[in-house]
Amino acid sequence: MTPRYLVRTFGCQMNEHDSERIAGLLESDGYVPAEDAGDAQVIVFNTCAIRENADNRLYGNLGHLRPLKEQNPRLRIVVAGCLAQKDQGRIQERAPWVDVVIGTHALPELLDLLRRAEDEGPQMDVREYTEVFPSALPARRDVAHHAWVSIAVGCDNRCTFCIVPLVRGPQLSRPMEDVLGEVRDLGGRGVVEVTLLGQNVNTYGRDLTVPGSGRRSLFAELLRRVDRVEGIRRVRFTSPHPHDFTPDVIDAMAECGSVCEHIHFPLQSGSDRVLKLMRRSYRRARYLEWLRMIREAVPGIAVSTDIIVGFPGETEEDFAGTLDVVREARFDSAYTFQYSPRTGTPAATMPHQIPGDTVQERFDRLVALQESISLEKNEEVVGDTVEILIEGKGRKGGVQGRTRTNKVVHVDGDHASGAFLDVRVVRAHPHHLTGEVAGPASSLHQTRCVREFVAAR
Ligand code: SAH
Ligand code: SF4
Ligand code: F3S
Repeated sequence: MTPRYLVRTFGCQMNEHDSERIAGLLESDGYVPAEDAGDAQVIVFNTCAIRENADNRLYGNLGHLRPLKEQNPRLRIVVAGCLAQKDQGRIQERAPWVDVVIGTHALPELLDLLRRAEDEGPQMDVREYTEVFPSALPARRDVAHHAWVSIAVGCDNRCTFCIVPLVRGPQLSRPMEDVLGEVRDLGGRGVVEVTLLGQNVNTYGRDLTVPGSGRRSLFAELLRRVDRVEGIRRVRFTSPHPHDFTPDVIDAMAECGSVCEHIHFPLQSGSDRVLKLMRRSYRRARYLEWLRMIREAVPGIAVSTDIIVGFPGETEEDFAGTLDVVREARFDSAYTFQYSPRTGTPAATMPHQIPGDTVQERFDRLVALQESISLEKNEEVVGDTVEILIEGKGRKGGVQGRTRTNKVVHVDGDHASGAFLDVRVVRAHPHHLTGEVAGPASSLHQTRCVREFVAAR
């Protein structure tokens, strides 16, 4: 009987992408996707450790699997990802029915570990160095038109709240030719949109440049080269760090026709005092200045952000500073987080941890403000005709697609995933738009390229 697998993913796009590699590895060994947990011989949890509730969820989920494992001793349960790297041996102590714990650097060992678990019992590999770049492994991508492309793993920053450097290690950039090779291959196979992934894309390549050459970032150059790849009509990236942002990246964004008019630009806090405590080495004025320059260079660009509420020591005045920046920056959308202490990070032991009810109250105020701004920003595009790339079925019938500015648009009718359509925006909501089909895509962005081409001549 053909063995079946199930991968459940928690966390960020890096994890989504690692899950595609996990699925790719399993399929290279003859596995096929399972319908549900009851039908699977291998169940993989690809975990996240960014906040405490992620931990609780994992142990809850593992608890649910216990009876399944008792019924079917041949079932193999794998815990992968950031929490596997963080909790290591504690996972099998708390859930002895877990067969394999595999950290963030050990993905290529997955099949070996599974085989060894068969003969020798529970296995764990939480090595602390990356030997094989994950993107060298086969991937199983669920969507035919979009692909995540990893350009770097790990992070060299030490934001005091963040566990990522501890579980993903220092930054390791993927050689540019490797990245381009993958993008060309994807373009050749019908992928039209790629998202370049790294914890801090602005420092991409610093570890690749020759020592003594000033450890240059190669990100702007990478954008320009990916822009030229045949077949790729949309290029996105996440995330740039405001501290390492450089004008050459703005130029590349403005000049490359396929680089989408959207930037995720994490603010974290609008208070200089808190930014300093967070070890985010930009300040509010600098952040807003970058934003002004980006908007000037790329008209109509949408901006999303990440904000943490309730960082240790955050006063009402600091929080008011965050609300001020949110009002001034007018983000299209924001991912808002309540600060969660992570053992091993400096902020976890800082004095003046903020009580939960204060955090909740501030969080609610921030969300209410951002929702109203998101709605206003979306209302600004009502009446416009925009190009969308269809992603799949919508929630209430119809389909949903995404604009180049990364806004979700719902439209009626049945349209194939991966198709481009021009739609007229007829209604705005805080988190999405409603549109009516105006026709097949007239390649609005190509108009932009042609315009630039003409201008360049
Ligand atoms: N490398 C990215 C962030 C990756 S983590 C960057 O620097 O922008 C994604 C987001 O999770 C962060 O931007 C931050 O807003 C949030 N986050 C990280 N650690 C957190 C913590 N301990 N508590 C609450 N939110 C956190
Ligand atoms: Fe975490 Fe900061 Fe690195 Fe982002 S830049 S992954 S927030 S340490
Ligand atoms: Fe991503 Fe969570 Fe790990 S946000 S890098 S999966 S800790």
